[in-house]
Amino acid sequence: MIRDLVIDNRSYRSFDESRRIGREDLVDLVDTVRLCPSAVNRQPLKYRLVHEPEEVEEVLSHTHWAGLLPDVKLPPDGHHPTAFIAVCCDKTITENPDSARTDCGIAAQTILLMATELGFGGCMIGAFEREEVALSLRLPKKLSPMLLIALGVPDETVMICDLPKDGNTAYFRDKANLHFVPKRSLEDVIVE
Ligand SMILES: Cc1cc2nc3c(=O)[nH]c(=O)nc-3n(C[C@H](O)[C@H](O)[C@H](O)COP(=O)(O)O)c2cc1C
Repeated sequence: MIRDLVIDNRSYRSFDESRRIGREDLVDLVDTVRLCPSAVNRQPLKYRLVHEPEEVEEVLSHTHWAGLLPDVKLPPDGHHPTAFIAVCCDKTITENPDSARTDCGIAAQTILLMATELGFGGCMIGAFEREEVALSLRLPKKLSPMLLIALGVPDETVMICDLPKDGNTAYFRDKANLHFVPKRSLEDVIVE
């Protein structure tokens, strides 16, 4: 059921490093995501696969995680993602990467849903140093990195909960390090 998959597909920020994602897994993900909708069917997105351990660590060093939890080190040492997919806009296809934002969102969620179905999980990372990542990955000038998708086998618990009375949407962790993600209610999001 797509609903179950959507519920299971949380943003995970801690991973079991002993169970690495291989290049074939990443290729399978991209082979599906290339079939997604695209504005004017231009298909400007290109995907850089990152799975070699040194390269994963290099990319990770240019990323920022869980900005709402500044006192928690995420991902924790020894629990790093084992792969990234860098979603890039090919500027020879679309000059303005902003026009590819919706394509990028569709692609990212599709990758994560499929990864969840395969027993993996991950987190979209928009907070990263674009120039450093482009340099580290030796991306050609025509490719502008838009979003990173960190992937691995999650080893933490993330749960959806109702919004508190004050309406604060900030995610939080309890003393047992369980991660809670408040979601707006159905009544709150349907416009009558
Ligand atoms: C476009 C986008 C960019 C994001 N960038 C980051 C990021 O840079 N770092 C991070 O830790 N989480 C990032 N996230 C994850 C969000 O924090 C997460 O989706 C939100 O807290 C809700 O949790 P959920 O995905 O489990 O529902 C991003 C999510 C989206 C959709």
